[in-house]
Amino acid sequence: MSVELFYFSGTGNSLFVAKELKRRLPNAVLTPIAKCMNQSLITSSHKTIGLIFPVHALTIPIVVKQFLKKLDTRSAEYIFAIATREGTVFKGFRAINGILKKQGKRLNAQFLLTMYNNESRHENYSVPSKSDIRNIEINVLTKIDRIVNIIVNRETSLEKDTAATTQIEGPLPVKWFLEELVVILMWIAEKIGGVQYFYSDDTCNSCAVCEKICLSGKIIMRNEKPLWQKDVMCYMCFACLNLCPQEAVQIEDIPGVKSYTKYNGRYTHPYASVKDLIEQK
Ligand SMILES: Cc1cc2nc3c(=O)[nH]c(=O)nc-3n(C[C@H](O)[C@H](O)[C@H](O)COP(=O)(O)O)c2cc1C
Repeated sequence: MSVELFYFSGTGNSLFVAKELKRRLPNAVLTPIAKCMNQSLITSSHKTIGLIFPVHALTIPIVVKQFLKKLDTRSAEYIFAIATREGTVFKGFRAINGILKKQGKRLNAQFLLTMYNNESRHENYSVPSKSDIRNIEINVLTKIDRIVNIIVNRETSLEKDTAATTQIEGPLPVKWFLEELVVILMWIAEKIGGVQYFYSDDTCNSCAVCEKICLSGKIIMRNEKPLWQKDVMCYMCFACLNLCPQEAVQIEDIPGVKSYTKYNGRYTHPYASVKDLIEQK
C-alpha cells in the first residue's frame, strides 16, 4: 500500500501519531509539511495521502492551509486527515475540503484525537502528570489501531466536529457565533502575517534552541537574544515557548487577555526531542 503521511507538529503530539501510523502501515513514508513549504508545487506519487496536524483556534494551522493550496493531489485515490487537539470543537475538515474541492477531491476519512494541550497561555493551565499522559496514550493508541483498519480498507469514515472536553459556553446561536468568530480571527491572523506574540525574558541564556527549532524561520538570534522577525509568518506551533530549556520564552499580554506563561509550566510530548522536531525543517 503506497501511503504518504504529511505531518506538522509543534510539540510532538501530531509527530507521535504520524510515527505510530507509519509503524502500522507498511511502506508508508513520513514527510514533514514544514520542509515542503519552500516549493511552489508539492507533488506526491502515492495513492493514499494522510495529513496529520494540531488543531489551532478551532481550525487547521495556517501552514497546513498554505501547504494544501500547493499540494497536487492528482495521484491520490484516498485522502484522510487526523487532527490532534486539546478538546474543543474542530471546524477544519470543511476548510480542507474547500481546498481539495478545487482539484475535484475531498476527504475520504477524518479523525480527531484528543491529546494534551500545548497552549499554556491561560490561567488554569497545568502540565499533565505522567499518569495523565499514560492515559491519553492508551486512548490514542487504541484509536490509531481503529484508524489504521479504516485506512487499509479504504473505508469512508467522517468523524463530526464534536467537542471532546472544552466547550464555548452559552446558548447554541451564541456558541456558534463565537466559534465562527475564532475561525475568522485565525483567517485575519493569516492575512496580517507575522504576528508578534512572543518575547524572551531576562532568564534567556542565549542557547538559541528557539532559533533552531522555529519551523517558520521567524526567530533569529540578534545580540545573543531571540528576535521574532516582523515580516516572517509565525506558524504558531509554540515550539519556541515549550522547548526553551530556561522557560524564558513568554507570550505577550494582549488587550483584555493576560498571559500566564510566566507562571505555567511547559508541555512537550514525552517521546519528542528537540532533534525530532527540528527534523521537520
Ligand atoms: C496556537 C494554538 C491554538 C490551539 N487551539 C486549539 C483549539 O482551538 N482547540 C483545541 O482543542 N486545541 C487547541 N490547541 C492545542 C493543540 O491542538 C494540541 O495540543 C495539539 O495536540 C498539539 O499538537 P502538536 O504537539 O503536534 O503541535 C492549540 C494549540 C496552539 C499552539
